[in-house]
Amino acid sequence: MSQKVKDLKLAESGRLKIEWAESRMPVLMALREEHAKKQSFKGARIAGCLHVTKETAVLVRTLRAAGAEVAWSGCNPLSTQDDVAAALAAEETSIFAWHGMNTEEFYWCIEKTLEMKPTLTLDDGADLIFTTHSKHPDLARQITGGTEETTTGVHRLRAMAKDGKLLYPVIAVNDAETKWDFDNVYGTGQSSIDGIVRATSVLLAGKNFVVAGYGHCGRGVAMRAKGMGCNVIITEVTPTAALRAVLEGCRVMTMDEAAKVGDIFITATGMKDILVGRHFDVLKNGAVICNTGHYDCEINIGELDSRARSKREIRPANEEYTLKDGRKVYLLAKGRLVNLAAAEGHPSEVMDMSFANQFLALLKLHREGKGLAPTVHDLPKEQDQELARLKLRTMGIDIDRLTADQIKYATDYSAGT
Ligand code: ADE
Repeated sequence: MSQKVKDLKLAESGRLKIEWAESRMPVLMALREEHAKKQSFKGARIAGCLHVTKETAVLVRTLRAAGAEVAWSGCNPLSTQDDVAAALAAEETSIFAWHGMNTEEFYWCIEKTLEMKPTLTLDDGADLIFTTHSKHPDLARQITGGTEETTTGVHRLRAMAKDGKLLYPVIAVNDAETKWDFDNVYGTGQSSIDGIVRATSVLLAGKNFVVAGYGHCGRGVAMRAKGMGCNVIITEVTPTAALRAVLEGCRVMTMDEAAKVGDIFITATGMKDILVGRHFDVLKNGAVICNTGHYDCEINIGELDSRARSKREIRPANEEYTLKDGRKVYLLAKGRLVNLAAAEGHPSEVMDMSFANQFLALLKLHREGKGLAPTVHDLPKEQDQELARLKLRTMGIDIDRLTADQIKYATDYSAGT
């Protein structure tokens, strides 16, 4: 077993964080108890490429407890929590992850996890799957299946499947309702605000807060910013999303307009070049800009750099750019995911459902993957309801059930006024 982390001496702090997360992730912990007994993942070798956080550690521990051999790398150079990585390494997990790695090191870590010749892969952003397909097609042909955690990754994998390029079945964990309707909305909403506050400590109330993109993530961020007293401005390209934003009480305008009035900007689109040179040219002095989309391409940092006279790190995850005309602009987390690079990512309670979905998707692939077509699959819809019911139960909440008579009524086309 090999591993590479920043500093094994951080393990005790990481262990405490993981324990804290475990106390907030009852659904995943129930799965651990059940499948540890059954050793359901016996014979599985799982390579994972996903943010190394305390919540991810709970997933890794659960997979290992259920009998899987696991090798892990982080899916973003700035999101690894070094103490958590150290704690996993101290438990003899094969893990390759540290905060602040460069691109070459990032791919080196992925390659190291492939040395175990995985039977299953778990991705957040699809870099592991892309690497397997482009560099190790023979290995890819042997893999039983993979899962994908995030919207951006699922889009790319669907495009790959459409072109007939996918070599093994992938389950779109992102598309489970108990993932996207909770993690993407409430997780991104809270953790992105958390990242902005940790990196800046600015007062949010009264600020013009510009959210680019009103998908699930953008909507979550907008909702929480509004709750903190911000004047929320949305920029969009999809008419229905823009309309929804208007009816939910936000101002909607183009980024060219928003750039002139915003105090804080956050991109949540999954698209490149949302904030570019012409926007930087009109930003107010003191504007804060950041991103919560998967890749760091939403803010064109090259065009910001070319307008800068100087830059310095004024606080952790906060770079002050002095532009050539003297205005100052603050870029958070180098344009990478502000919720993970400047804070700790989504809260454990939300990741509980996302990672329970991951666990069940991997289990399905372990058991049935050989019989599935090499395309992108959804999780069974009933699983969403079961997971949500279980989550509610852990919160001490019971809900009503339809009677047999009501079920009959729902499909009775002879009933009317
Ligand atoms: N993505 C967003 N938040 C996360 C977290 N806490 N752990 C792992 N992946 C995440």
